[in-house]
Amino acid sequence: MVKLKSEADIDAMRYPNKIVGEVLEYVKDYIRDGVTTYDLDRIIEEFFARKGVIPAFKNYEGYPAASCISPNEVVVHGIPSKKVILKNGDIVSIDVGTIHDGWYGDGARTYAVGEIDEKKRKLIEVTRGSFFAGISQFKVGNRLGDISNAVQTFVEQNGFSIVRDYVGHGIGRTLHEDPQVPNFGKSGRGIPLMEGLVLAIEPMVNMGDWKVRVLDDKWGVVTLDGSPSAHYENTVVLYKKEVEILTIPEGMNV
Ligand code: MF3
Ligand code: CO
Repeated sequence: MVKLKSEADIDAMRYPNKIVGEVLEYVKDYIRDGVTTYDLDRIIEEFFARKGVIPAFKNYEGYPAASCISPNEVVVHGIPSKKVILKNGDIVSIDVGTIHDGWYGDGARTYAVGEIDEKKRKLIEVTRGSFFAGISQFKVGNRLGDISNAVQTFVEQNGFSIVRDYVGHGIGRTLHEDPQVPNFGKSGRGIPLMEGLVLAIEPMVNMGDWKVRVLDDKWGVVTLDGSPSAHYENTVVLYKKEVEILTIPEGMNV
C-alpha cells in the first residue's frame, strides 16, 4: 500500500532529510588516503548525535553501523571497518539514513579519494546524472516505469550498467515503504505518480556487468566482475506541479 503524505507529513520529513544532505557534505572533507571506513562512520554518527537525529540503519535488520560505506567494487551495504583503509584513486559510496520524530530520511553519494582516473570520474557523474534523468519523469500524470526507464536509458547510453537486484523505495514513518522503485524497466508501466508521493530514488551503477553478489558478512554487495560501482540517492517529494529534493536542502550545491 502506497501512503501519500500530507503537507504536515512533508514538513516533518524535512529535518531528518536535511541532516542526511548535510552529513553527506560534511563527511566529504574527511575522505582522504589512509582514512578507514570505520573513522568515517564515527564522524557520521557523531554528527547525527549533535543534530538530534537517530541513525536509521543502526540495528535495522541487525545492521551494525550508522552508515553503509562501500568502496570501489562494493555496490551498497558495505559495513564500516577499521580494516578497510581508503587509498588515493579509490571511489567510495556513502549511504546514510536518519530518524527524527518518527520520520525517516535516506540518501547517498559517491566520492573520489584523492585523484581518480577519468573512467571512475565518469562513473560518478553518470550515476548522479541518472538520478536527475529519473526525477525529470517524476510528474503527476506519469507512471513509476517512466522514472525507471529514464534512469536505465541514461546509464546504458553512457556505457555503464544498472544494478537490478536492489531498488529504490517509498519512505516515511518507515525506511522502506511501497512502492519499490526499480532503476530499470518499461515506461508507461507501474503505479500512476500522485501528489504527496515520497520516494527514495537510488540508482546503483556498475562500470562493468550489472550482476552482483553478497559477501560472507551477509551485508556487503559487490559486483560479480569486480568492476567499480557508484550510488546516488535522494529522498524526493511530488507536488501538483513540482518536486522537492528533501536531501538537497536549499542553497546546497551537489
Ligand atoms: N539506503 C539503503 C536503502 O535504502 C540502505 C539501507 S540498508 C541498512 O535501503 F541496513 F543499512 F539499513
Ligand atoms: Co534507500
